[in-house]
Amino acid sequence: MGVIEIKDLWFKYLLAEEWTLKNLNLVVDKGEFTVLMGPSGCGKSTLLYILTGIIPNMIKGTIRGSVRILGRDILKLQPSEIVKEVGFVFQNPDSQIIMPSVFEEVTFGLENLGLEPGEIEKRAEEILKYVGLWDKKDVSPWSLSAGERQILAIASVLALRPKVMILDEPTSMLDHKSTKRVLEILDRLKKDHEMTILVVEHRIEWASEVADKVVIMDNGEFVAVGSPSEVFSKYEIIKKTGVRPPMITEAFYKLIEKGLPVDRIPVRLSEGVQILANLFKR
Ligand SMILES: Nc1ncnc2c1ncn2[C@@H]1O[C@H](COP(=O)(O)OP(=O)(O)OP(=O)(O)O)[C@@H](O)[C@H]1O
Ligand SMILES: [Mg+2]
Repeated sequence: MGVIEIKDLWFKYLLAEEWTLKNLNLVVDKGEFTVLMGPSGCGKSTLLYILTGIIPNMIKGTIRGSVRILGRDILKLQPSEIVKEVGFVFQNPDSQIIMPSVFEEVTFGLENLGLEPGEIEKRAEEILKYVGLWDKKDVSPWSLSAGERQILAIASVLALRPKVMILDEPTSMLDHKSTKRVLEILDRLKKDHEMTILVVEHRIEWASEVADKVVIMDNGEFVAVGSPSEVFSKYEIIKKTGVRPPMITEAFYKLIEKGLPVDRIPVRLSEGVQILANLFKR
């Protein structure tokens, strides 16, 4: 059984004429790191809204098909039940910040879970140390940099110990350095905790290094699902959606066009270097 199971899922917003999501099918296994990509408006956020219960609890429309997370029908669960299993981080961290200090921002959600005060403080300390914000615990979230605010938003969600983390373009508003910090935390979550992670992220080189699974969406449909190598080697499909393949993959397509005798298309820089080194040796 997969941690996330999407079956024949269709969705149409209230008052919309067209279906925004069309016949989606996907299984994400435990500990799998999945990167969802696709052009603007193709329906990525809409799908995440369904996985996190925002649709149908806050945004209405017509849903067909089924969505199970950890075996439970997410379409029938109350939001208070969903947050125990699924952590959701938005593109803009500021939409999630409500408390006057970093520490309280993390403890707020834990208080809502009804945990003991001792347990709440222990978890908040643990998670702030994990993400490297412990020394800022007493400052206002608004005095943090945008990158640190995103890390705080991630920490507040992680403190609830969800089994699945879903993030919608968590780095799109961040500079290079903060982006690296956020992506590094995601890497560590996968390695240390076998967390099941689904993230919308446009950084293709990063995705091809860390993802177990890449899902390309176009116009409300999944057009490619598989490992980074499987997906990025479908050059024509990828190009049609406007998603750029990794630079090393593109370089190899050009080399093959020029007659270079390679039988494998790399998606990671290290693979590309290896293939070229072998060719030169020959
Ligand atoms: N509340 C809503 N009511 C009606 N239509 C909506 C609503 N929210 C989004 N849409 C439409 O649904 C489609 C998919 O939007 P969505 O935000 O899911 O795309 P996206 O892939 O996340 O795009 P982006 O990369 O720009 O974030 C778009 O055509 C959008 O205009
Ligand atoms: Mg979006």
